[in-house]
Amino acid sequence: MKYAVVTGTSKGLGASIAKLLMEESFHVIGLARNINEELAAMKLPGEYTHIQVNLSDLDATQDTFTSIVQDLKEKEMESLLLVQNAALVTPIEQAGRQDTQKLIDHVHVNLLSPMIVTNLWLDLLRDMDLPLVIANVTSGAAQRSVYGWNAYCSTKAGLDRYTDTVALEQGELGTGNKVFLFDPSIMDTEMQGEIRSADVTQFTDVEKFKAYKTNNSLRETDVVAKVLVDRLLDPDNIQNGEYYSVKDVFNR
Ligand SMILES: NC(=O)c1ccc[n+]([C@@H]2O[C@H](COP(=O)([O-])OP(=O)(O)OC[C@H]3O[C@@H](n4cnc5c(N)ncnc54)[C@H](OP(=O)(O)O)[C@@H]3O)[C@@H](O)[C@H]2O)c1
Repeated sequence: MKYAVVTGTSKGLGASIAKLLMEESFHVIGLARNINEELAAMKLPGEYTHIQVNLSDLDATQDTFTSIVQDLKEKEMESLLLVQNAALVTPIEQAGRQDTQKLIDHVHVNLLSPMIVTNLWLDLLRDMDLPLVIANVTSGAAQRSVYGWNAYCSTKAGLDRYTDTVALEQGELGTGNKVFLFDPSIMDTEMQGEIRSADVTQFTDVEKFKAYKTNNSLRETDVVAKVLVDRLLDPDNIQNGEYYSVKDVFNR
């Protein structure tokens, strides 16, 4: 059986990734605080198992992933994917006006949770005779500063550097594991709705993002997920440490 663990499957890109992998006969273990009932009820070649977890709670994250790996190790696995997609864009606000707890939750979900999960994954699955594939979902914001997105730009930049460094280690160790980044560009999701609802004093580019919606510039998540899933289905076509973007396929 083919298995995939995907974070942030309750909506948006994560839900589309889960659905497309199930269409390809993967048993998807999806994580989020909320369950997507529609996804869970889909009759597809692959199955869906939902695990409710708050990824800002690092002890819960560690316990959940430890138990997922223990369960997976009992199975006959043909392949095993990990897609770390869950993230927050909030708080959208200039530094100096932010709530400390919101900043802590943001860094936990966007950066510390993927680091803790990657470390556990590589440790607990070390003895498996199976090359591991880990895809981390990034953003163009990792590479440019956006007024009001100081938290998001920082955690995505951190995730990029972390992914690149782990890939370097895995390459030098000769494990055969592949760790890479996927940039989905702009998509029509609730995250974009949160971005559009920011006040111009918090986010000076808000009108530009409202225009993305009215001009139909936001991609549908199924279209974006297909680009990632096509690559995941062809591991020979994945280069360890590479940065793949949806723009590689659509040229914008
Ligand atoms: N939308 C865009 O235009 C865009 C652009 C570039 C990059 N991205 C990246 O693409 C990825 C997906 O974004 P999206 O637009 O699909 O976002 P979204 O619609 O807001 O969905 C985010 C997902 O993450 C989960 N999540 C958030 N906080 C969580 C927590 N504390 N614990 C567990 N799960 C949590 C949410 O589940 P629950 O709320 O149910 O917990 C949800 O399933 C993210 O990494 C984002 O940074 C998005």
